[in-house]
Amino acid sequence: MSRNVFLVGLMGAGKTTVGRALARRLRLPFLDSDHEIEARTGVSVRTIFELEGEIGFRAREAAMIAELSGRPGVVLATGGGAVLDPANRACLRAHGTVIYLRARPEDLFRRMRHDRDRPLLQTGDPLGRLRELLEVRRPLYEETAHLTLDTGDQGVARLVNRIERELFPAIAGNPLPVPPAGETGDGAADSAVS
Ligand code: S3P
Repeated sequence: MSRNVFLVGLMGAGKTTVGRALARRLRLPFLDSDHEIEARTGVSVRTIFELEGEIGFRAREAAMIAELSGRPGVVLATGGGAVLDPANRACLRAHGTVIYLRARPEDLFRRMRHDRDRPLLQTGDPLGRLRELLEVRRPLYEETAHLTLDTGDQGVARLVNRIERELFPAIAGNPLPVPPAGETGDGAADSAVS
């Protein structure tokens, strides 16, 4: 089985934070499709939306996912809308294990209420927008994922341990320390997902 791990889920679910920690844990390179697009174009996702519209961004995203998912042994965080394209869904499922980080729109809204970088949230009713996006995308996340994890209040270390146990039981003998509830602990060990 390919060791690739792909993270899908709505924006703010913690794909980048969890992905980075998981990659460190598995000693695999971490990639984020939005960051790669930004690095190569030299502009932000927000600017791409302004210049090329969502359609232009989606074309860049599809090309990036086709390329990055084909690499051997990576942890890849995808943009929240990557699952909209059937080709992306097929590509992700074919090249690795797909994990859906599931989160409630209310929690996502709390984390991102001051966000100015995500074009789809620049509306008068960002919570309503998150609910609409989830309505459309939920079945797509579910059909794409091999494994669904509720992020809830779980910290990063707990999620990473869970993923490791589920996917790689043979190497999951030495979990990351998870501080007791209420304690911050080592920030890197179990900080909040977003
Ligand atoms: C989007 C999510 C963003 C980014 C773009 C569109 C979406 O990525 O790709 O703003 O359609 O949900 P994150 O999920 O990493 O925020």
